[in-house]
Amino acid sequence: MTDLNEAAALLGRAKRVVVLTGAGISAESGVPTFRDALTGLWERFDAQALATPEAFRADPDLVWGWYEWRRSVVQRVRPNDGHRAVATIEARVPHCTVITQNVDDLHEQAGSAAPVHLHGSLFAPRCSVCAEPAPVTGPADEPAEGRRLRPPACVRCGAPVRPGVVWFGEALPAVGLQSAVQAAADCDLALTVGTSGLVHPAAELPLVAARLGAAVIQVNPQPTPLDPVCAVNLRGPAAEQLPALVEAAFAGGG
Ligand code: OAD
Repeated sequence: MTDLNEAAALLGRAKRVVVLTGAGISAESGVPTFRDALTGLWERFDAQALATPEAFRADPDLVWGWYEWRRSVVQRVRPNDGHRAVATIEARVPHCTVITQNVDDLHEQAGSAAPVHLHGSLFAPRCSVCAEPAPVTGPADEPAEGRRLRPPACVRCGAPVRPGVVWFGEALPAVGLQSAVQAAADCDLALTVGTSGLVHPAAELPLVAARLGAAVIQVNPQPTPLDPVCAVNLRGPAAEQLPALVEAAFAGGG
């Protein structure tokens, strides 16, 4: 049996599925991943070094500029066949929870109903002091690539507005994390797609699922620390592997 057929058999009979996605699923839409080298004007920056509360305190204009650039990229791109395949899985299996570490909205655009955004969203800025939600300032005209940008002031207290994402050293949204852990504990199949499996607690979700007896399928062109717990590793880009998996799992199923 090929890896694809084995994965399709697991997906075809699964009743409770968790799909955990990372930056790799959006790569083919044109959103850069975190740990692949940055290109262009941002290449001299380390994405992880920009994603901390300390970085924002030290240089808010740099960090706000970086996230506004990311948002402008995301607003210009479209979901790919990988995101669409995830939405199909959601529609076809009896229970499916989509959990993403991505701060883009490409799962929603592809038709996923309510993905859990474990690391927040580019579209939910808030005050860095009083947490008052702030409006998204419309589509950025041109990507502010490599440029500092002054964050807007909070309408309530005047402090700088910050991106609505989770930074290193910050807690994940409690409700989202709780429902993600619950879904991983209850599933019979976990599908992990395009994540390096290096950032916790997200990376623990497939481990929880495996420990409690679920099968784990991984889609990633590269090996990751999650390889050992996976029943099947589909090595390749998500936009190719996921549609093939969906086709093989549900072919002829109406
Ligand atoms: P990473 O950038 O760490 O990893 C991306 C993964 O996607 C790698 O394992 C690649 O091999 C894989 N990949 C690349 N192209 C792919 C493709 N076409 N199809 C499938 N996989 C592909 O991104 P994440 O694992 O999402 O957190 O990173 C996790 C978290 O670390 C992010 O949410 C962010 C980051 O720092 C915060 O900012 C809190």
